[in-house]
Amino acid sequence: MYIPKGDIMAKQSIQAIVLAAGKSSRFNTGRSKLLERLCGQEMILYPVKVLEELKIETTLVVGYQAEAIKKAIAEYNLNTVSFVHQTEQNGTGHAVAQTKAQWNQDTILILNGDMPLVDKTILEELIQTHETSDATISFVTAHNADPNNAYGRVIKKDNQIQIIEAKDFNGDPAEQCCINAGVYVFKRSFLEKHIDLLSAKNAAKEYYLTDLINIAQQENEKIETIKAPFDHVRGINTLREFWTAEQIKRSELIRFWMDNGVRFYAAQSVVLDANTEIGKGSHIHAGVHLLSGTTIGKNCTIGPYSVIENGTVADNTIIKAHSVVSDATIEQSCQIGPFAHVYEKSTIAEKSIIGNFVEVKRTNIGSNTKAKHLTYLGDARIGNKVNIGAGTITCNHNGVGKNETHIADNAFIGSNNTLVAPVRIGAGAFTAGGSVITKDVPSDALAIGRARQINKEGYAHRLLSKEEQSTNSNQTEPNDTPSFIAATKSVDDSSTPYNHD
Ligand code: UD1
Ligand code: CA
Repeated sequence: MYIPKGDIMAKQSIQAIVLAAGKSSRFNTGRSKLLERLCGQEMILYPVKVLEELKIETTLVVGYQAEAIKKAIAEYNLNTVSFVHQTEQNGTGHAVAQTKAQWNQDTILILNGDMPLVDKTILEELIQTHETSDATISFVTAHNADPNNAYGRVIKKDNQIQIIEAKDFNGDPAEQCCINAGVYVFKRSFLEKHIDLLSAKNAAKEYYLTDLINIAQQENEKIETIKAPFDHVRGINTLREFWTAEQIKRSELIRFWMDNGVRFYAAQSVVLDANTEIGKGSHIHAGVHLLSGTTIGKNCTIGPYSVIENGTVADNTIIKAHSVVSDATIEQSCQIGPFAHVYEKSTIAEKSIIGNFVEVKRTNIGSNTKAKHLTYLGDARIGNKVNIGAGTITCNHNGVGKNETHIADNAFIGSNNTLVAPVRIGAGAFTAGGSVITKDVPSDALAIGRARQINKEGYAHRLLSKEEQSTNSNQTEPNDTPSFIAATKSVDDSSTPYNHD
């Protein structure tokens, strides 16, 4: 296999055209297949990024759902890509013909947009072969023995080469295993002369780009081919093929991280996206999803069925089972979960513990802080060494807008507190269990925001005898509301509908 020496690509007088206008009818999702995310990245981004890596100027032919495809490219800051519209999708040859005004280099690389597993080595080898052989056309072939395959067959006989599209092929497919991969390099002069000579007289009634190979052969032009492993050039037409390609890509990613010292407990059940990173010595349990934009540090444990999306988890942190972290940063040596939810730009500083059934939304938590059980922290700024008691709720939403809760260092929030924002708890302050805190608490103060308890001596006995009397008299009417319930209802209910959201 050809190994490129140095930065040869930047020196080539070469440009690329990627075909991305097709209707995706075989995909059958009602959307362009090229926008479907394979391992977290839109399919079209794979070939486009390889070309960017090779520093080859690229024109994308768009048509079906053009705006959405352009937006996907723009989101990845691939600003060197230009676009040409193919208003009617009349075939791959027709798509290339739309780009004529863009042709400005002597060599033109054309590739299908639906080949997410294509890599740099194949393109480099093809370009190198084309340059050294001075061929008119060079293209990539692969071996596929599946008789149901829908690829164009490459037939080499008597020193002649021909491509017959699947729909027009009448031979025995099992005997014609050489397929056209959909990656070509053309001399621009040949394209200019012949692109308008294509006809749509075929089974699909489309202008086939591949007919250019047949024309070149008739004109005895030099045609070169290189072979690539089929898995690297799979074209994705159906959801089944997409699924297969995604399995291949994902297992490549998992093997890569294994080689870098990451331990997977049940690798076959892990969902791993392309732009994720995992540090050495980390343990990834069964069913974990590490999705786009996620970075896991060294020696972390990500427990079973946890989902991390666009999250940063620093070294030595443990995420216990069934936790969800998205758009959030967790610093080193923290413990999160099980069943925790940390999201929407939340940050948790080192050595903090976020326990089971704790939700943390748009909240910053300092270091060595604990919220270990059944808590909602939303729009809160929480300092270091704070203890948040079980069942605490920040009431950040008053039905109209959101308000912040500030809790300074070393504060101790008792269990089952309702912190009605906006509110500030000073450094080192205590709040009593069961408090509804509606006013700021100064530093070092103890706030008690609950009804005082009343004990009515002997009252239980009186209640029971009242119950017995009413049963004996066989009343059909329901009993009066027991007076002890009314007796406990001593808090002055505020009419403000404090809620959390
Ligand atoms: C094509 C090749 C076939 C090859 C296979 C490899 C042709 C005629 N056939 O078949 O020989 O084995 O790829 O995967 O080229 N597109 C447009 N405009 C159109 C039609 C298609 O931009 O009018 C784009 C599609 O979005 C797609 C690419 O061209 O990204 C290939 O089109 P597709 O319909 O998938 O071609 P295949 O039938 O797979
Ligand atoms: Ca295809």
